[in-house]
Amino acid sequence: MAANGDNPMLSAHALTLLEKYNTIENVQSMAALANTLLNKNDSVINIYLATSLGPWVKVSSGIFLPILAKISQIYRGTAIYQEAVTSSLNGIEEKFQALLNNPILSKTTNGLIDSVLSSTIKNRNDGKMNSIFVNERVPNDARTNGLLIFSTTCSTCHGTAGEGIENIGPPLKGSQYVEGPSERLATIILNGLEGPVHVNGVLYKFNGSMPNFGNNYTDSQIEDMIKYLHNAFVSKPTDAINATKIKELRNKKPGTLTEKELSAMTYKIELKRK
Ligand code: HEC
Repeated sequence: MAANGDNPMLSAHALTLLEKYNTIENVQSMAALANTLLNKNDSVINIYLATSLGPWVKVSSGIFLPILAKISQIYRGTAIYQEAVTSSLNGIEEKFQALLNNPILSKTTNGLIDSVLSSTIKNRNDGKMNSIFVNERVPNDARTNGLLIFSTTCSTCHGTAGEGIENIGPPLKGSQYVEGPSERLATIILNGLEGPVHVNGVLYKFNGSMPNFGNNYTDSQIEDMIKYLHNAFVSKPTDAINATKIKELRNKKPGTLTEKELSAMTYKIELKRK
């Protein structure tokens, strides 16, 4: 089955298709597929899995809520996964909460899901829509837009979970360049980067360099991408950035950057902020 193949995007598309086959006869095979996919431990597949299970939860919450609980636990530090999981609950948030709080499951604390669930329940009780998942399927907000760009472009060199790829690209997970000033991060994406670079205290020397993406993406696409990077790979980004600021940064400095230029830039940005 295509959803069980090796290519994460292929699996993601197939999963989206499988949302149409949510009948009681298919529950067992879907559960088996979901578990196979989970075992691949692929962050892109897992976010699609989390957002695709909504229709299945409606058919059998007993089977699919525990799968969502697993995803929620694996990514307990990352908001976008908690939102993806919550987007598949469709009104049975309390039931999910009870499952998570079941002491038999030896719950490790997961403050993020607790707060996403309570605000979803509160919004529902107040008759309000949930701004982050008004769509039925993959919530079409800035972070999922960013996720799509990330998984089609950046993951080729940085890995689907931002863990980096040997000899190809450094990690983004935990990187000070993702966590630090957003203007610097935007400039890396706009201009590209070359020469040796330190990430998480490790010196990387690649043969290739990071291409520039200024001509490939609009200001707001880069804004979305940065939102995703912040959500997926660091716990406390220094600051946020918007499309207007990204527009200003375009062509401020022509050509590919080096680590040296980046550190000079950080200095300037930090000075300005004081
Ligand atoms: C063709 C491979 C390639 C692609 C595609 C690519 N990068 Fe990179 N990236 C690199 C390399 C190589 C470096 C290290 C450059 C150096 O040696 O100075 C890097 C460095 C970085 C850094 C700074 C170092 C770090 O790890 O934090 C960031 C941030 C970054 N890339 C983000 C992105 C984003 C976002 C995308 C998608 C828009 C992307 N990259 C796409 C190869 C790539």
